[in-house]
Amino acid sequence: MKVISTERSQILAARLATALGTGMIDVKFSRFPDGELYLAAGELDDETVIVGSISDSDALVQLLLLIDACEGSQNHLVIPYMAYARQDKKFREGEPISARAIARLFKDHVKDCITVNIHEPDVLKYFSVPTRNISVAQDVGAYIQSLNLKNPLILAPDDGAMAFAEGVAATGTWDCDHLEKTRLSGVEVRMAPKSLSAASRPVVIVDDIISTGGTIATAAQMLYRQGATGVYAACVHGVLIGGAFVHLQAAGIRDVFCSDTIERACSRFSAADCIASAIRKR
Ligand code: R5P
Repeated sequence: MKVISTERSQILAARLATALGTGMIDVKFSRFPDGELYLAAGELDDETVIVGSISDSDALVQLLLLIDACEGSQNHLVIPYMAYARQDKKFREGEPISARAIARLFKDHVKDCITVNIHEPDVLKYFSVPTRNISVAQDVGAYIQSLNLKNPLILAPDDGAMAFAEGVAATGTWDCDHLEKTRLSGVEVRMAPKSLSAASRPVVIVDDIISTGGTIATAAQMLYRQGATGVYAACVHGVLIGGAFVHLQAAGIRDVFCSDTIERACSRFSAADCIASAIRKR
């Protein structure tokens, strides 16, 4: 078995290969003059783990090309981050179910698939091959342990993110809660933990994705007003668009950290061991 990856997932893929005790297949990437993507894979193995986060449309096309190039091998697909997974239903007439449109693309030359903290696990039903979603909650927890925070409160930004936050909190037997919004007036909204107090303690807000950082930045400002001693932001997928990192810093966030499902300078922990263990258990 060998590991092969798209350009965007090369660091995670190399860590995965190390965790699996195997090597990587070298790939040449370039573009045609008109902007089309080109790649050429080195010598294939009988069995290949193909790693490719779909962080934008080019990454999707490159992953499709890579899968096609691996024709003839028995391929296991790993999609560490899958964009478009948030459009998991039709919210308005005329909309696509984008998660379904993307999931349906992976049927040729792929035996099975692994996703990592996909936004809505229900979309797994749209994959045409057996697909498992795994969670790096324990790895987020292990990184929080390394910060040596005293009595931290692990906070989900909403009820929907609570299961993930509970998984993180379980690693350190920390308190866990989720934010609740109360409308105070036509223009004023208060955000506070539903049941517990943030006063005199550090708070770590954990989410699957940080995109613009808007949700966490607003929450942080309110948590400081409620007496939090420090607010930290953790996520699996650091999408971080439009200056999100700086926006979070400006809101007083002490540290922003994410996994390497999207490779960022603030990727402080890896999803590789978790993926390797899922592959071994297959
Ligand atoms: C949404 O449902 C996700 O779980 C995140 O909460 C969301 O993507 C965060 O967005 P932003 O960083 O733009 O506030």
